[in-house]
Amino acid sequence: MSKITEEGMSTVEKSKTVPKDVEIRRATDNDSTEILALLETCQLPKEGLAANLSTTLVAQRGNEIVGCSALELYQQLALLRSVAVKPSFRKRGLGLKLTRATLDLAREFRVTNVYLLTETASTFFSKLGFIQTPRSNVPDVVKQSVEFSTLCPESATVMTTLLTT
Ligand SMILES: CC(C)(COP(=O)(O)OP(=O)(O)OC[C@H]1O[C@@H](n2cnc3c(N)ncnc32)[C@H](O)[C@@H]1OP(=O)(O)O)[C@@H](O)C(=O)NCCC(=O)NCCS
Repeated sequence: MSKITEEGMSTVEKSKTVPKDVEIRRATDNDSTEILALLETCQLPKEGLAANLSTTLVAQRGNEIVGCSALELYQQLALLRSVAVKPSFRKRGLGLKLTRATLDLAREFRVTNVYLLTETASTFFSKLGFIQTPRSNVPDVVKQSVEFSTLCPESATVMTTLLTT
C-alpha cells in the first residue's frame, strides 16, 4: 500500500499532481520564442499566436516554460487554441489547470461561448465541459480565424462550451 503523506495524499497520487513551483501567468512578448518552440514540439499551429500573446497564459517552472494556452477573442466569443504541455510534464493535471485558468480569463473578458479545434485531445477537453459541435454551428467570425480557415484540417473535431459565471 502506498504511504500517506502529511497532506493526506498517497505518494502515488502526489506524483500525479502539478508541481507546486509551476506558476501560471499571462504571457509577455519575451515569451514568444519559447512558446513557439513548445507549439512546434507539440505539433500545433504557430501561425496567429503572436497576435494573441496578450491573451495567452504560460506555465513556468524556474526559467522554463512548460505549458501554454491561448484565447483569440471575437467580441463575446473566443477560440481556445495552443493548449500545450511539455511532454515530460504531462499527465499531472497541468493541462487541465492551464485550460481552466484560460477559461477564467475568458470570463474576465465577458466571453460567453468558447470554441476549439482538436485532432487528438477531444477526451481531454470533454473533461472541461466541452462538447462536439458541427462546423456549421460555429459563428462566421470564429470560422474566419487563421486556425479554422487555413490550419486545421476539415477532419479536426470542433468543440464548444458555454461559459457561466
Ligand atoms: C492535451 C494536453 C495539453 C494535456 O496535457 P496534460 O497536462 O497531460 O493533461 P492533464 O494531466 O491535465 O490531463 C487530465 C486528463 O486528461 C487526459 N488526457 C490528457 N491528454 C489527453 C489526450 N490527448 N487525449 C485524451 N485524454 C487526455 C488525462 O489522461 C487525464 O485524465 P484522468 O484525469 O482521467 O487521468 C497535452 O497532452 C498536450 O500538450 N498535447 C499535445 C498538444 C495538443 O494536442 N493540444 C490540444 C489541442 S489545442
